[in-house]
Amino acid sequence: MKKLKIAEGIYMFTMNVEDILFEGIWEIANGVTLNSYVVQGEKTAIIDGVIGWDGVTENLYKSLEEIGVDPKNIDYLIVNHMEPDHSGWISNFRNIKDDFIIICTEKAARMVKSFYDEDKIRIVKEGDILELGKGMILSFHPVPNVHWPDTMYTYEKSTKTLFSCDMFGAFGRMMDHCFDDELTPEEIDFFENEGMRYYSNVMATFTPSLRKAIEKAKTLEINTIAPGHGPVYRKNPQKIIDDYYRFSLYAEGAGKNEIAILWGSMYGMTAKAVDYVESILKRENVKYRKLKMPLESESEMITTVFKSAGIIIAAPTYEYKLFPPIAAALNELGRKKITGKVAFRFGSYGWSGGAEKELHEIIERNKMKWDLIESVEFEGAPREEDLAKIEKGVLELIKKMKEKIVG
Ligand SMILES: Cc1cc2nc3c(=O)[nH]c(=O)nc-3n(C[C@H](O)[C@H](O)[C@H](O)COP(=O)(O)O)c2cc1C
Ligand SMILES: [Fe+2]
Ligand SMILES: [Fe+2]
Repeated sequence: MKKLKIAEGIYMFTMNVEDILFEGIWEIANGVTLNSYVVQGEKTAIIDGVIGWDGVTENLYKSLEEIGVDPKNIDYLIVNHMEPDHSGWISNFRNIKDDFIIICTEKAARMVKSFYDEDKIRIVKEGDILELGKGMILSFHPVPNVHWPDTMYTYEKSTKTLFSCDMFGAFGRMMDHCFDDELTPEEIDFFENEGMRYYSNVMATFTPSLRKAIEKAKTLEINTIAPGHGPVYRKNPQKIIDDYYRFSLYAEGAGKNEIAILWGSMYGMTAKAVDYVESILKRENVKYRKLKMPLESESEMITTVFKSAGIIIAAPTYEYKLFPPIAAALNELGRKKITGKVAFRFGSYGWSGGAEKELHEIIERNKMKWDLIESVEFEGAPREEDLAKIEKGVLELIKKMKEKIVG
């Protein structure tokens, strides 16, 4: 666990977590950090605790001691968000100290009780204040459904620091550089990508609530954003606010000037047309990324589709329906409410077809409102005339996606 000073009396503790499935699902290729913060006045508060894994809590206690804070002197546990990646340590802490107070929203209070059987809770509402002494003043600002319904921001007035928990967070391990002003250009790109991975995998479903949280952040004068995952923004907090706004547009159909090719093929018939499409995209100088399903991780698939302004779906018919890994991918995108994308599909069939019908069913059932260019289906191998139709579809996609490009 690394310890960093954010300001006089404010410390960050951060650990890298690797080789896990985040939320039990997401294969996070580049890890994730869990950040926790301590604010010291005459009283001491900890904001966003740590996960409840063996050894992690002990590691936190040791780190606290190293900055001169006896864990037994912590007065307040500020639970911005009850998800156990931030709150899992509470039961362990109760073993070493009995007289602390948990500060959280009403929604979180119910969960603190049901998850950890805790009842020494002070419920806070919009604008409530906690004075820690020595000029440290915390205020609380609920941002419901930024991930869970219980979430709030905590804001420290004297340093103008926003502790935003999941909001403005990113996947990605942090090595030596934890502040935005320390990041190299490569690390800035890395965290932008990991931010999109985090937003698309974890937060996309809640885009309307995230927009409200962005508006709420704008009402506070912010010098520093200190999230629960990823770097701290002290040089330019506006950057992550703007990035998150842009990501919210990606969730609703905008994207970078890139195409995601979501494809699968059993015996190579659809694959022949994918090869042809690649030659067109190279000729047209359009950036693209192929996602071969089911080999690609769901995490990577969602991130890539999310950030692309144009989507190509290449998939054959399988048992009278859409090739199952592609159907599963589209359903997952629907659950994440990735809406409004411009897309073009083609694929092979043997005798009856059926893929096309299921594609439309998935898009409609999930209310995805994707703008689907007329599909091209071909029997067996694609012929010249099929490839010509596919080329037409791809060129139409390139034209239509231009209106969707942001960033
Ligand atoms: C397990 C399996 C199920 C299939 N089910 C259908 C089907 O229901 N209707 C149909 O028209 N073709 C069906 N086909 C034929 C494929 O759609 C056809 O072979 C197509 O060329 C496969 O394209 P691919 O090589 O890109 O996977 C099926 C093929 C397989 C292997
Ligand atoms: Fe969360
Ligand atoms: Fe989290």
